[in-house]
Amino acid sequence: MIRKRQWHVRSKWKRHLGLIGQRKLRRHIPPTSLLSRKTLRAYLKRYSVVYVKPVYGSFGNHIMKLSRNVRRRGYVVRREQRVQAVPAKRVERVVFRHARSRAFLIQKGIPLLHLGGHPVDYRLMLLKPFRDWRIMGVMGKVASGARIVTNYNHGGRAIRFRESLRRAGFTAKQIDAVYAEMRRVGLLAARQFGSRHKHCRRLGIDFAIDTNRRVWIIEVNTNPFYELFRHHEDRTLYRRIHKIMRHIGKTQLNR
Ligand SMILES: Nc1ncnc2c1ncn2[C@@H]1O[C@H](COP(=O)(O)OP(=O)(O)O)[C@@H](O)[C@H]1O
Ligand SMILES: [Mg+2]
Repeated sequence: MIRKRQWHVRSKWKRHLGLIGQRKLRRHIPPTSLLSRKTLRAYLKRYSVVYVKPVYGSFGNHIMKLSRNVRRRGYVVRREQRVQAVPAKRVERVVFRHARSRAFLIQKGIPLLHLGGHPVDYRLMLLKPFRDWRIMGVMGKVASGARIVTNYNHGGRAIRFRESLRRAGFTAKQIDAVYAEMRRVGLLAARQFGSRHKHCRRLGIDFAIDTNRRVWIIEVNTNPFYELFRHHEDRTLYRRIHKIMRHIGKTQLNR
């Protein structure tokens, strides 16, 4: 039997490293580094929006978003529902007080599509029941309230892929093109990640579509939550995912 630590990669940093080996993927992965005073300064200088996330975190917990505030020469810092204006000289202190001694990542912010004022991103589900990866489907997630994360645990709601893009003003042709691109990049990512982590057979990829219709991988999850797929237009999809998950679970322990 395969132990959980063999198939589930807990560290976001290791999951990032598992992807960037493939050159063709790099233009779909936002610049990402381990957080340090040096990387924080460099990212804040280079990008107008950055995200700070715990290496051992999930469900959207402890994520911070820093946006440059040009006129007032400082930053707008958001976490959960809280918004704070921070002068430039205090921003390092605010970030490291949040991180304390835990390991964090810093990542360039992607300008996500918005629906009704809330950010939206997508979950593409891939499973490897036998030898090959299968793309199961995609669902959108909309953040609730003033939140910066779309995770279910933070009130994120499911939205269907086509409907979300239609509402964001995409034509049917543009929607098809974005989905084809997401599938192409998702499969490339699964093959690359799978070649590094041989026991990994389930992947939930968090995809962003930016305001220029480019697709970005925000993160890959090796133990993906799939309740979202209960809302999929294909009413049989959830059960099919569940069945393959159970099949994989027969040879892979949950501990
Ligand atoms: N670089 C980024 N640009 C834009 N939004 C981001 C970025 N990183 C995270 N987010 C938002 O925060 C959510 C949670 O981040 P994620 O990296 O998936 O961590 P978790 O493991 O906690 O789900 C994402 O689904 C997305 O909505
Ligand atoms: Mg996520």
